[in-house]
Amino acid sequence: MNQVSCNQSIELESLKGRGIRLSVKREDLLHPYISGNKFRKLKYNLEEAVSKGHSTLLTFGGAYSNHISALSYAGKLKGFKTIGIIRGDELSNNLEKVLKENPTLRFAHSNGMKFKFVSRSEYREKENPEFIESLFSEFGNFYLVPEGGTNALAVKGCEEILTQDDLSFDYICVSVGTGGTISGLINKAGKAQKVLGFQSLKGDFLEDSIRKNTGDAKRWELLKEYHFGGYAKINEKLISFINDFYQQTTIPLDPVYTGKMMFGIMDLVKKDLFKSNSSILAIHTGGLQGVEGMNQRLLKRKLPLIKI
Ligand SMILES: Cc1ncc(COP(=O)(O)O)c(C=O)c1O
Repeated sequence: MNQVSCNQSIELESLKGRGIRLSVKREDLLHPYISGNKFRKLKYNLEEAVSKGHSTLLTFGGAYSNHISALSYAGKLKGFKTIGIIRGDELSNNLEKVLKENPTLRFAHSNGMKFKFVSRSEYREKENPEFIESLFSEFGNFYLVPEGGTNALAVKGCEEILTQDDLSFDYICVSVGTGGTISGLINKAGKAQKVLGFQSLKGDFLEDSIRKNTGDAKRWELLKEYHFGGYAKINEKLISFINDFYQQTTIPLDPVYTGKMMFGIMDLVKKDLFKSNSSILAIHTGGLQGVEGMNQRLLKRKLPLIKI
């Protein structure tokens, strides 16, 4: 059975004045620990792992990764052993300290995930067959879930985000990291709809990988002006936007993905770049588990904290 999340309507003066209807699809509320797009991306991958008789899942991620957090919990729930290949070999020096300081890895560890910390250059080999082969030699057989959980089965899962009722919106907006989630939305969107992806990181490489999953569909565009300097880079302007949005709408946003998307949407509204009287559906892809770790870093930098 498909899981359906609710659409929450947003009442803000800046929207009302322009006749724009904005709703947020609360995928973040699908599950307390397998939140948002992770739920969608893991659904068919876990089914595949079970049907192929695997007992171990192995995946890749950064030290604050939403995907690592969700997979560790989903793995525990379904009775898999889990292994996380984590970017940053400096973390291997003192696991006890890392677990004390890093809430994402502490959670994953508490779910039984084993870690292998690798250097940034080694991590870049994550799709190299020789590197994967070395992981098979080290860990034995496993079901491989790629970084960010993105593969064809993840895209299939993300196609289930949109319901029939959602096909009445003019625009579907989503944050983009690896491009898996937007690919599912593009595949499911109606011909008259436009899917806007807000890149959470710099770069021009995502179009090609999205096209691999969506063929020659034309109804989408990537916006590249709202990454705030790059992946997981944030500043006081973004923090204050996230906190104001939360206060006005009661919807918490994360600083790495959904906060940047919503900042972008409201900026496009202000610049009158949406058709007047149009309707927008913004997908809340979750990511709130990362706020605690980000706040620890903000505290060290003496910056204001994110409220959720
Ligand atoms: C909370 C959240 N939103 C959006 C994304 C971007 O999704 P994708 O990598 O499928 O583009 C991610 C990363 O997977 C994420 O963790």
